[in-house]
Amino acid sequence: MKNKSLVSINDFTKEQQLRILDISEEFEKNPTQRILEDFVVATLFFEPSTRTRLSFESAASRLGARVIGFSSASSSSVSKGESLKDTILTVSNYSDIIVMRHPKDGSARYASEVSPVPVINAGDGANQHPTQTLLDMYSIRKTQGTLDNLNIAFIGDLKYGRTVHSLTIALTQFNTTFHLVSPPELKLPSYVKRHIKDRNLAYHQYTDLMEVIPVADIIYMTRIQRERFSDPMEYEKVKNIYNLENAMLAGSKDNVRILHPLPRVNEISLDVDSNPKAYYFQQALNGVFVRQALLATILGVK
Ligand code: CP
Repeated sequence: MKNKSLVSINDFTKEQQLRILDISEEFEKNPTQRILEDFVVATLFFEPSTRTRLSFESAASRLGARVIGFSSASSSSVSKGESLKDTILTVSNYSDIIVMRHPKDGSARYASEVSPVPVINAGDGANQHPTQTLLDMYSIRKTQGTLDNLNIAFIGDLKYGRTVHSLTIALTQFNTTFHLVSPPELKLPSYVKRHIKDRNLAYHQYTDLMEVIPVADIIYMTRIQRERFSDPMEYEKVKNIYNLENAMLAGSKDNVRILHPLPRVNEISLDVDSNPKAYYFQQALNGVFVRQALLATILGVK
C-alpha cells in the first residue's frame, strides 16, 4: 500500500482493508508515536468538514507529521480561478501526501492521476468516502466481533449518501444481508445495487424504518444531503422523513449498534444518545486510529 492512492474502497483489496483495521487497533492501544516526523500531510478541503479533516489532522499530529492545507475553496487560489490540476501539482511540491475533499464526483480520481504524491479521497461529491468506510468497518468489527454474516440496515438518503455507497461495496465482501430504508426518490443507486447482486447477496428495500429495527445488527442512520438536491422543494418533501427515537429501539437486538457518519441534523433524537446502543461518537473517535493507520501505511512507515 506504500505510495498508493485511496480513491475508491476497491483500490485496496479485502486483505489490505483488513490489514488497515488491524493496524488501527494497534494505534488505538498506543495513539501517540512520532513515526511521521519527516513527513508533511496536506489537507485540501473544498467542501465543509468537521470530523474527516480534524481527525486526519489529529492523526497526523499524534504521529509527529506536520499539517498544511485549507478548509474551504474560498481561502485558496481556486477562488481566483486556479484549476484543480494546478492546485494539486503545487501542493504536491509542499507535501508527501494529499488528503482531499471536493464537491465533484470523480475529482479525487482525477487528482490522483495528476499528482506525483498519493491522494486520499476524503469524499468526492455523492460518489465515495473510503476512509469513512474503513472506520465504519472498524466500528462494526469492534462492536460485533466480526464483519461476516451481519444484517446491516441503511436508513435515509441512500441516493446521495457517499458513505453508504462505499460501505455497501465493502460489505459485499462479507456475506452481508442489506436492509435499505429510504423514500422512493432516495433509493440506493443501481450501480451500487449491482455490486450486491454480483455477489449473489440479498437486499431488501423498505420505506418504514420500524420494519428493520428487530432484524438489524447495525442501524446506520444518514442525513438527507440537502446540498446535493438541485430542487430545494424536493429536499423540503423528504427532510424530516426519518427520526429515530429511543422508544423505537425497544424491540431491537441486544447486540445492535446505532451508527451515523455524522453530522446529524434531526434523524436521531437526542434521547438516543444515552442508550448504550448508540455508537456514533465512538465511531467518530475510531476515525483517528483508522486515519493514523492509513497515513502510516501509505507513507511506508507501517
Ligand atoms: N463523516 C464525515 O464525513 O463528517 P464530516 O463531513 O464532518 O467530515
